[in-house]
Amino acid sequence: MPALSVEEERHSRALLEFLAARIRAAGGQISFEQFMEIALYAPGLGYYSAGSAKIGADGDFVTAPEISDLFSRCLARQCADVLAQTRGDVLELGAGTGRMAAVILETLAELGRLPDRYAILEVSADLAERQRGRLAALPAGVRERVVWLDRLPEHPRRGVILANEVLDALPFHRIVIRDGRMLELGVGLEGDAALIEREYPPSDFLVRAWDVVARELPMTLPDGYRTELCPRTGPWIASIADCLERGVLLLFDYGLPRSHFYHPQRVEGTLLCHFKQRAHCDPFVNLGVQDITAWVDFTRVAEAAIDANLEVLGFATQAAFLLANGIEQLAGAATNDVERVRLAGEARRLMMPGEMGESFKVMALGRDYEAPLSGFAVQDLRRLL
Ligand SMILES: C[S@@+](CC[C@H](N)C(=O)[O-])C[C@H]1O[C@@H](n2cnc3c(N)ncnc32)[C@H](O)[C@@H]1O
Repeated sequence: MPALSVEEERHSRALLEFLAARIRAAGGQISFEQFMEIALYAPGLGYYSAGSAKIGADGDFVTAPEISDLFSRCLARQCADVLAQTRGDVLELGAGTGRMAAVILETLAELGRLPDRYAILEVSADLAERQRGRLAALPAGVRERVVWLDRLPEHPRRGVILANEVLDALPFHRIVIRDGRMLELGVGLEGDAALIEREYPPSDFLVRAWDVVARELPMTLPDGYRTELCPRTGPWIASIADCLERGVLLLFDYGLPRSHFYHPQRVEGTLLCHFKQRAHCDPFVNLGVQDITAWVDFTRVAEAAIDANLEVLGFATQAAFLLANGIEQLAGAATNDVERVRLAGEARRLMMPGEMGESFKVMALGRDYEAPLSGFAVQDLRRLL
């Protein structure tokens, strides 16, 4: 793992002191969900609230819109259909560097489907600043349609809502199976200066959340099995559903249907940390300067959607979605050999099963939306069960 710079060391130590104070104040331990909330979002200290590059080749990880504009151009085609049907606008949640927004807007302009408004809700002040810089380069008639919100719209709107790799950034709980029972894996202190994992009986809330999952699993989980549980998914989806009058919410993330997510062979769960393009499994190092994520249980997302009176309109792999939205045609339209080779390489990274093609999924949730969605021509909703 690359060493921390002097500034990163200082930042990390400050966050450790903050966490230690919170753990002491809580009587010696906090849940992993509380730890993650602080490590990623504590004002001025958390990973998404402080100034590191985070996303992109000079950051800690790359996302599909950073790998290739082909991703956003395909997505724009899907957005164009929904905008035509609803005469609505676009809301993007967690817009990262703003590159996806820029390419979607450029493509919608080419397609003659520019919405009146492209709203961005971003919890990271630091990333919102980066988005403003990126989108300032758009032509005036396009960039003036972009607005930043500090909360979800109060009045339900029509159109399309987008979130790429946002679900995986919601703080989650960690659990372990011992003698057939579930224990919570929280965070405590070793001495004054190190974080350690703590096992303790879960709250009633977490027991209920786990029961919903465990009763559906086809096989029992082995002793010592560790995994994650994200009860925040439900309220998050419900809050977004509240602001959708008519249209489609498209959620992209790495994830699985429940029976695969909680497969008995996945004994260490799906938690992953990202630091300077290295993925590893230790959330207690590089505090405040590394990302912490887990895969998404898409069955939970579908259940949350149904509870929020949304309809599950589609579930597909990223590869199937991009193919159905014309990625081959877009990549093939290169004007010279250098561009052709570059686009072919980018398309491979987005589409190949060993890269992002299979592990990344897209789920479409809708309200009052009847028209077929082009990106879900090849899908299988039964895979959710
Ligand atoms: C992994 S990054 C993905 C960024 C971007 N969508 C991309 O694909 O490059 C996660 C993004 O979600 C934002 N985020 C995290 N929690 C959020 C929430 N509750 N609402 C909106 N954005 C959130 C982060 O600040 C960050 O921009």
